Amino acid sequence: MTTVNHHADHPGFRGVTGLLAGLTMIPGRGAVAHLAADLTAVSATDRVIDVGCGPGMAVREAARRGARVTGVDPAPVMLQLARALTRQQAGITWAEGTAEDLRQPDSSATVLWCVATVHHWKDVNAGLAEARRVLAPGGRLLAIERRVRPGATGLASHGWTDEQALSFADQCRMAGFADAHVERHSRGRRVLCAVRAMRP
Ligand SMILES: C[S@@+](CC[C@H](N)C(=O)[O-])C[C@H]1O[C@@H](n2cnc3c(N)ncnc32)[C@H](O)[C@@H]1O
Repeated sequence: MTTVNHHADHPGFRGVTGLLAGLTMIPGRGAVAHLAADLTAVSATDRVIDVGCGPGMAVREAARRGARVTGVDPAPVMLQLARALTRQQAGITWAEGTAEDLRQPDSSATVLWCVATVHHWKDVNAGLAEARRVLAPGGRLLAIERRVRPGATGLASHGWTDEQALSFADQCRMAGFADAHVERHSRGRRVLCAVRAMRP
């Protein structure tokens, strides 16, 4: 099966370089956050977990739509930046954790997002088992990655090829998710791969 976490060896974000990297994750991400919220039809009745939330663009979008939302990230510098950028903290919780160990209660979420993060996970199967555990029955899983060209290297490879998106959808099925499928969306100059699935 094609590897979908081809940047799992990334050393993690910390210190000044981590902060600078976090700042680069702000421009243009508003449209992606809107897309995540639209595709999962997030509303005030939802409890959202945003795995690998980074500086928190998608977390703030979920909160604007009235949802209760937890942004989870392994990098303390990302959570500090996310807090600093968030004027209205009502309904928002920031928590340290990884996809593989979310440290959130069973069936505590109705929606789980993974935006531009799966390609960094150490263990995709463990991450999907955690996603299934924390989602309530009927819960919506959404992973979004930038669409990249086969053979891309360096920064240009941070995302998924079409084949990697299909492979992640297969892993979702094997992890017990229903209706796993791949979609492609354009936002400005960005082309995005989205994998959506449902926790039965
Ligand atoms: C490219 S950033 C994307 C951040 C944010 N979701 C966005 O779209 O702006 C990738 C994020 O994934 C986080 N990350 C890396 N490994 C992770 C893991 N195993 N579990 C969860 N998050 C992880 C990083 O700390 C980083 O904040």
